[in-house]
Amino acid sequence: GPADATALLLSRVRDVPDHPEPGVVFKDITPLLADPAAFTALTDALAEISLRHGATKIVGLEARGFILGAPAAVRAGLGFIPVRKAGKLPGATLSQSYDLEYGTAEIEVHAEDLTAADRVMVIDDVLATGGTAEASLRLIRRAGAEVAGVAVLMEIGFLGGRARLEPALDGAPLEAL
Ligand code: PRP
Repeated sequence: GPADATALLLSRVRDVPDHPEPGVVFKDITPLLADPAAFTALTDALAEISLRHGATKIVGLEARGFILGAPAAVRAGLGFIPVRKAGKLPGATLSQSYDLEYGTAEIEVHAEDLTAADRVMVIDDVLATGGTAEASLRLIRRAGAEVAGVAVLMEIGFLGGRARLEPALDGAPLEAL
């Protein structure tokens, strides 16, 4: 059942202390990706969440959100849209910058990939401060599309990402497996 699936997923995430800098514990999903039973369980869960919330498209956040979002989109029978770091997408883009602890970051989406007819589920591996996911929700709304929700494998609770995301979610769900 769902509890078994969660235990399997958790057992395949590796904590890497002091990466990428001292004091940070990095959540490494590569063991999960290398285990077909775990990767399939995660893909199925993300596809199920997307369909349950009525998504018509899946947005994946670079880079690990691509690895998780793309197979979930195929599984759910939905289109996949990459949200990339600034400067990578070749076509006309919408850009959104957001604050990091030190400095700012910027993400982009192809403007023509999202329309008012779309209802979008955002998929990523980790919700940390919530800055990246929040910026992606702004992009989706600026494109005129509706937000179906945000689905992540893991939420790092003490960083307060859920609270930061709440206004941008505007009632849409944040599901952390
Ligand atoms: C990580 C992670 C999320 C984001 C979460 O990506 O995969 O996308 O950070 O952090 P936040 O909630 O504080 O915004 P990263 O920036 O390391 O990009 P990468 O996957 O391309 O390495």
